[in-house]
Amino acid sequence: MHIHKFEQFWIKLSFGLIAFFIATVVYGFVSMDLKVIGDYQTIDPQGLDATPFGTPGVREVTRNGATEYEVYVQTLQFAFVPGTSSPITVPANTRVTFYITSPDVLHGFDVAGTNLNTMSIPGQVAKFTTIFPEAREYGIVCNEYCGPAHHIMEGIIKVVPKSEFDKSTLVE
Ligand code: CUA
Repeated sequence: MHIHKFEQFWIKLSFGLIAFFIATVVYGFVSMDLKVIGDYQTIDPQGLDATPFGTPGVREVTRNGATEYEVYVQTLQFAFVPGTSSPITVPANTRVTFYITSPDVLHGFDVAGTNLNTMSIPGQVAKFTTIFPEAREYGIVCNEYCGPAHHIMEGIIKVVPKSEFDKSTLVE
């Protein structure tokens, strides 16, 4: 069968583009450590007080014999609790799992300068685990339009050296 050379060119270009797009996705997941946040847990947005979100903050847990931290955060119009009026303080080089939800409207939780970024959806719990490699501060921004003060909704994650982590700031 004869295929005209221009047709051959476009066929090759089409398959080349498909291969390129697949390669960019593979590159993101393999080299940039991108992950899709899975298994959303549902929650009653009016019933957060009866859950750990009722006392939001950083908790210490022991998992497989290792000390880890869990951070429960509520996103509100227009603050991260904790995060905005007081920073979320966690130690460096330690596993930290964030649980994030919203009692009011859709918000974002984007840790600036990292690939940590999730939506905070009323009725769902977003969860991700990370290890901050160094002591420094990170800004948190809301990147979903949530109302008239959306643009000032921001917070801070303060990563401190393990030896300087003050456990008196933990919640029970
Ligand atoms: Cu909260 Cu935008």
